[in-house]
Amino acid sequence: MSKDLTEITEKLESVKENFSKEISSIRDENELENIRIKFLGRKGELSSYFSLMGKISAEERPIIGKQLNILKKYFQETIDQKKSKLLPKKISDDFFDITMPGVPAKIGTKHPLYQVVDEIKGIFISLGFSVETGPEIETDYYNFEALNIPENHPSRDLQDTFYITDKLVPRAHTSPVQIRTMEKMSPPVRMIAPGKCYRKDTPDATHSPVFHQVEGLCVDIGVTFGDLKGVITAFAKRLFGANVKIRFRPSFFPFTEPSAEYDFSCVMCDGKGCSLCKGTGWLEISGAGMVDPAVFKFVGYDSEKYTGYAFGMGVERIAMLKYQINDIRTFYENDLRFLNQF
Ligand code: PHE
Repeated sequence: MSKDLTEITEKLESVKENFSKEISSIRDENELENIRIKFLGRKGELSSYFSLMGKISAEERPIIGKQLNILKKYFQETIDQKKSKLLPKKISDDFFDITMPGVPAKIGTKHPLYQVVDEIKGIFISLGFSVETGPEIETDYYNFEALNIPENHPSRDLQDTFYITDKLVPRAHTSPVQIRTMEKMSPPVRMIAPGKCYRKDTPDATHSPVFHQVEGLCVDIGVTFGDLKGVITAFAKRLFGANVKIRFRPSFFPFTEPSAEYDFSCVMCDGKGCSLCKGTGWLEISGAGMVDPAVFKFVGYDSEKYTGYAFGMGVERIAMLKYQINDIRTFYENDLRFLNQF
């Protein structure tokens, strides 16, 4: 055996020893991979011996080659064995710093329109009103007929209603909930009904084909127009402050008699006249009036015994006044730059 061969054989022996020592203490796949690179990699320990082959005599070359191949196989098998025994890769302790601040979760807030609905509800609940709901797809009967709006009545055009069939409509107002509530309970009734309504309006700064109303109804013995004014006044002051004034103007609705539209003094200029109220000092809110006895007939209430008032209000309109928003479309665009402000 030549001196070279003896030397190489000894060196390979010590490479094997190092390998065995190092691999016995590995803890995870990363360390195992480092060992694989160190001993079997392209620039690893073994490959340097393979490249020595050219310098070795032809007779001894196969001996070294065999030794190298045995060692290579041994390294590979040991590594594979070790790998199969390692537990699945975990986030090791040094990667997981439990003192690091967490990533804050983004929490949404209630939509501004529904914050206003909640506020309106809160005020009326404190005045003794219950909260009722009704379906958004209504029959012709509840949307029109029982509200004293007979077929061919011009106000059916005025409503500008969408039709699903000629007997089924997405409700054009929340007034059908008056009828549904009176059908299911006898007086005294004191209720509000918030909800979505649908009308054939082209969207612009003040119109939307879907919008929200809150309906109000109070029926009992001896209910007067004075009570209606009192409740609307109390509501307006709670919502916009003690200085707000209320005005009723004569109007017409088939389901109330007498009917009125009611206005609040302008929340921006206190009634002096500004761009918001177009110089009038007043802001239109919605309609109201005393329940027409014809409506009581539909629900079987005795109109000789009971009287009642009803009112509507537009939620978008109130929200726009409250937050001084000049375009109704911002409520529906879900732009976070807008929504984040509430
Ligand atoms: N329903 C009417 C509308 O949508 C408002 C209203 C409600 C009027 C109750 C009188 C009484 O315009």
